[in-house]
Amino acid sequence: MVNLNSFARTSLVAGIFTLFLIKDVATAQSTGTKLNSFQKCLVEAVNADQARVQFPNEPDYASKDVRPYNLNFQFTPAAIMYPSTSLEVAAIVSCASKNNVKVQARSGGHDMTNKALGHSDGNLVVDMKNFRKVEVKGTTGIATIGPGNTLKTLVEGLHTQGARYMPHGSSPSVGIGGHATVGGLGYHSRILGATLDVMTEAEIVIANGSIIRASKDKNSDLFWALRGAGASFGIVTEFKFQTSPEPKEVIDFTYTISSKDIATLTNSFKAYHKIISNKTLEPKLSTVCVVQKNAVIISGSFFGSEAEYSNFDLGRQIPSITNKTVTARLSWSAHMRNSFTFVDSVFPANVYFDAKDTAITYKQLPSNDTIDELFKHLQTGESGSDQWFALMDFYGGAVNQKSSDASAFPHRDVAYFFSVYAASKGETSQTIKSFVDRAILTIQGNQADKFLSYAGISNMRTNKPQQKYWGTNLPRLETLKARFDPSDLFSSPQGVKPA
Ligand SMILES: Cc1cc2nc3c(=O)[nH]c(=O)nc-3n(C[C@H](O)[C@H](O)[C@H](O)COP(=O)(O)OP(=O)(O)OC[C@H]3O[C@@H](n4cnc5c(N)ncnc54)[C@H](O)[C@@H]3O)c2cc1C
Ligand SMILES: *[C@@H]1O[C@H](CO)[C@@H](O)[C@H](O)[C@H]1NC(C)=O
Ligand SMILES: *[C@@H]1O[C@H](CO)[C@@H](O)[C@H](O)[C@H]1NC(C)=O
Ligand SMILES: *[C@@H]1O[C@H](CO)[C@@H](O)[C@H](O)[C@H]1NC(C)=O
Ligand SMILES: *[C@@H]1O[C@H](CO)[C@@H](O)[C@H](O)[C@H]1NC(C)=O
Repeated sequence: MVNLNSFARTSLVAGIFTLFLIKDVATAQSTGTKLNSFQKCLVEAVNADQARVQFPNEPDYASKDVRPYNLNFQFTPAAIMYPSTSLEVAAIVSCASKNNVKVQARSGGHDMTNKALGHSDGNLVVDMKNFRKVEVKGTTGIATIGPGNTLKTLVEGLHTQGARYMPHGSSPSVGIGGHATVGGLGYHSRILGATLDVMTEAEIVIANGSIIRASKDKNSDLFWALRGAGASFGIVTEFKFQTSPEPKEVIDFTYTISSKDIATLTNSFKAYHKIISNKTLEPKLSTVCVVQKNAVIISGSFFGSEAEYSNFDLGRQIPSITNKTVTARLSWSAHMRNSFTFVDSVFPANVYFDAKDTAITYKQLPSNDTIDELFKHLQTGESGSDQWFALMDFYGGAVNQKSSDASAFPHRDVAYFFSVYAASKGETSQTIKSFVDRAILTIQGNQADKFLSYAGISNMRTNKPQQKYWGTNLPRLETLKARFDPSDLFSSPQGVKPA
């Protein structure tokens, strides 16, 4: 199509021209219906570039633009915007604010409950896919990263820019925008911390339409809030992260225990659990455990040599292993490719699913009796799901070297996050919900109120979600919300509400 943008700009009567062109857009996009003033404002915000403003009457709006990740949560946003600059983001935010429409940014769109769609019809989604910068300059190793990067494009970009890396999770399609503002935990977090721990600065569009920079020296309150609760405070248009040189060699391992005997699975798990309950365990060792029907799969990485790994080899300490794979001397890139493939294989896209988690601190580790009860439930309970698993992501290490109020992310004494994921062909049933809830409640020793939860694994059945996601940081967040976004423009039901 014609480049409306440059045409209008070079015209002396740009204003009149733009109006005329907007009318054209109106006819084309609304098939006869006139745009309302909110829609006109949005069209102008992206310089009347039709491809970057999508309204619900567009063909394929739901499948191409709304793209709900979890099919349980399908909504019709007022528009999906695809800005290319911070100025455009600011203009879009101003349109929403003037028209009292709620806004959420979207980066990878991988929130478990599609939080970026705002959880009702008629919200505004600002999709950050055009913000794809990955740049490492100078000798400091500080990377400038656009929030439209997925973890996959981030890893590839950092590799080509001088073989750098940083801590983050292992799903290739998770966006850095949501990840870095909520937490960002992965295999190398035991050495480097969470993604938000290596954030040094962010550019963010706030509710009054200002584009501001936040760091420990500039707007430090906002910087504190957006490292853990960013979605409630604005739209990050650029991040800066401290990167490190890629590890020289990585070992990836998988130990599978396949058995129909619950006691066999439980005993292997207890042995594993005892090892990871060690608060001073070597940080170079990182592991996750997946429990499925008739199987416990222990996998992970060791950031060091084979000789060193032999001291920590989980395979020698866990009984009843039926299959072992240990791959040594992997490059960083090869290790990340393996991790991406593994996560893609366990989390299919475009399904109905339920996910729920709880943070297990070193002080609240389950007893052996609780583990027995959990395994009995997981292996014999009616799941109602075509595909379910329980996952334990073991952290500790560098993640716990910060205090719980160092940033809005409160989880600094966590041994592991325990989560249950259950997919199905149709909408998540009551049977599935009960199965998931029961598993979570069991590992909590039936004392749900005493446990926090990771905001990155959102679940709409979570009771008092804000208290669970932010713990003792919630009051400060609510005060800051009242200062930066008093009308709750950046809104979702489980977001921070103004004090
Ligand atoms: C398959 C899968 C695997 C996962 N694995 C891990 C893991 O290993 N470790 C881990 O820590 N987490 C993991 N997560 C959780 C994931 O980190 C969070 O769900 C994260 O918020 C997703 O980010 P996103 O950009 O893809 O999501 P989106 O849905 O785009 O965004 C999520 C939230 O962040 C907000 N947001 C997005 N971009 C911005 C921005 N630029 N500025 C401000 N707010 C923004 C959105 O408004 C929304 O509220 C996983 C999730 C999935 C689905
Ligand atoms: C917007 O809010 C920021 C942060 O509170 C403030 O510095 C700035 O002056 C405000 N801008 C306007 C136009 O009100
Ligand atoms: C915990 O791990 C450290 C480091 O690997 C080890 O030296 C120590 O013996 C372990 N403690 C226990 C109780 O296993
Ligand atoms: C063991 O695991 C490897 C790699 O995951 C797989 O290729 C192989 O088929 C498995 N072997 C058995 C006996 O399950
Ligand atoms: C739990 O069980 C494991 C494995 O059977 C055992 O090694 C451990 O000592 C038990 N823990 C307690 C606290 O009894």
